[in-house]
Amino acid sequence: DRGRYRHFMEKEIHEQPEAIATTLNAHLDGTRICPSLDPELLGRVRAIHILACGTSYHAGLVARYWIERLARVPVSVEIASEYRYREPAIPEDTLLIAISQSGETADTLAALERAEHAGYLSTLGICNVPESALTRQCENVLMTRAGLEIGVASTKAFTTQLTVLLLFAAALAKAREADPGMIRQVLEDLGQASQQAREVLAMDGEVQQVAEEIASKAHALFLGRGPEYPIAMEGALKLKEISYIHAEAYAAGELKHGPLALVDDTLPVIVPASSNPLLTKLISNLQEVRARGGMLYVFADRGVSLAPAPGIRMIRVPAPHSIISPIIQVLPLQFLAYHVGVLKGTDVDQPRNLAKSVTVE
Ligand code: M6R
Repeated sequence: DRGRYRHFMEKEIHEQPEAIATTLNAHLDGTRICPSLDPELLGRVRAIHILACGTSYHAGLVARYWIERLARVPVSVEIASEYRYREPAIPEDTLLIAISQSGETADTLAALERAEHAGYLSTLGICNVPESALTRQCENVLMTRAGLEIGVASTKAFTTQLTVLLLFAAALAKAREADPGMIRQVLEDLGQASQQAREVLAMDGEVQQVAEEIASKAHALFLGRGPEYPIAMEGALKLKEISYIHAEAYAAGELKHGPLALVDDTLPVIVPASSNPLLTKLISNLQEVRARGGMLYVFADRGVSLAPAPGIRMIRVPAPHSIISPIIQVLPLQFLAYHVGVLKGTDVDQPRNLAKSVTVE
């Protein structure tokens, strides 16, 4: 039932504050983080391989920043369809994490199957569907509590995957005796996620104005740095999937290595910008875009100050910078794709050529 919403995607975008809170509560028990995972197992983990497809792969890419920063464990993230045909070298005591909303994605399941005989320490599935093939195949499972996701474009599954992955990073850090103050701060920030998401979702009207400008374009470029780079990738995937506009994402530092040649006054450049230590570098990348006439749409958190200038549209994301920024920064990009799709009259919940669960290779 879509209730008062026009599409399931719109409804599911709005369900995120609650889905995040429910997911958090499911994996916190007093001071215990992810109590279903054996702390002794976590203490043994020396490396992590993450496998997934599509949006779930982007969640894995964000998690790499978190796990390496908090737990100091090396992480590699790979698209399952590539991994399944490789001959990966697996260091001792490596944990395999498979991420899938549906738990039925053929490539992710096949990668997992291959990995079962490859000498991993253990497997951990992150999934939204209980009793799915993925939850049955993994030795450990952390469920996302997004509820049923009907729109083909993944929204609330993504932000709840991120919630679980940040909790997992904190649990791993704790098992490895990281600074308790740092872990407390992560939990405090996560505790703000649901409320911050609610505030960001209230900026829907402003995003709609941006959508009106983007809807007539043939192409769009998304740029990000640090953990916002996978968020730029996710924003580009959402836009192409829902609106059929060709969108590409680049790490902002890659501009000069090729994509800058594309920039002219017909190209919108969309940037999730967080006031993290890389902000000054990001801003100098944005100046390179402006110098070539590219129109900038910067989704900036509260700490970003950018002088108003022609060709730069600042959309203020009402949240401070913290470790949860990627969870918050993706929300306006989901809205953007949604509104552009609606304006173009596409089938938002069921984009052409796509299926909700990709159960064949
Ligand atoms: O169910 P899964 O998370 O394994 O699905 C993976 C992808 O097929 C999925 O995320 C896809 O990219 C979405 N349609 C993106 O919105």
